[in-house]
Amino acid sequence: MSGWLFFKNFLQNPRSVGSVWPSSRYLAEAMTKDIAFDADFVVELGCGTGSMTHHIDAQIANKENYLGFEINRDLHVGLTKRFGSLRIVKDSATELRRYLPEEDQPINVILSSLPFTSLSPALSEQILSLYVDALAPGGLFRMFLYTHTYPMPRNQRFIQHVSQYLELTSVETVWKNFPPAKVVTFQKRSTAAERWSHETIRPAPQTSGGFASLPTHSRPGAAQQPLK
Ligand SMILES: C[S@@+](CC[C@H](N)C(=O)[O-])C[C@H]1O[C@@H](n2cnc3c(N)ncnc32)[C@H](O)[C@@H]1O
Repeated sequence: MSGWLFFKNFLQNPRSVGSVWPSSRYLAEAMTKDIAFDADFVVELGCGTGSMTHHIDAQIANKENYLGFEINRDLHVGLTKRFGSLRIVKDSATELRRYLPEEDQPINVILSSLPFTSLSPALSEQILSLYVDALAPGGLFRMFLYTHTYPMPRNQRFIQHVSQYLELTSVETVWKNFPPAKVVTFQKRSTAAERWSHETIRPAPQTSGGFASLPTHSRPGAAQQPLK
């Protein structure tokens, strides 16, 4: 699918598409590295034009260990033509439970291209709580943010917010992407995995950019890595 079709869809749905141009192969490589594609069950959120999907498709041993979500009809049509052997559903990431092969299917890796901080705060929270709970102990949640927006308070608050539940393990800059992006990886601790508490999810204060202000400390045992 061409970048221009992606751009057209951005113009029609800027908050949902969240980016003017598809991800580069450099970003896709950074998003898909260090994953055990021979065994892991991988869920991709917001497949878009399929930049990440292509790298997953090339590496995943068992195609049944993949589930992708793309809400946009035009983009979904392109994805199904290109990746006939992967299960990519035209639905919202919020509908995860409807599509898992087994109700208790462990998810080892979540690769998200969703523009979390431009979606409505309620939708972001709904998706995050669902996927933090569904992630297997030891599993990875990986997403990206554009470098120029990364320091913005709303994005930093978002990262802190997720860090309450998952351990922030790395932040890698991909300069060759347009625009440059940071790949942010979180991991669910193997023990004492805590369920997302909806009590912490409250309407955003006026200045929060959508996410509730957080205490400066993480939850006990959550050794937070310095942000690069
Ligand atoms: C930044 S773009 C994807 C970039 C993708 N990596 C690429 O290279 O094309 C984000 C995608 O998330 C999709 N999206 C937004 N909200 C969604 C939702 N609730 N469920 C599933 N997909 C969603 C958008 O339609 C868009 O294709």
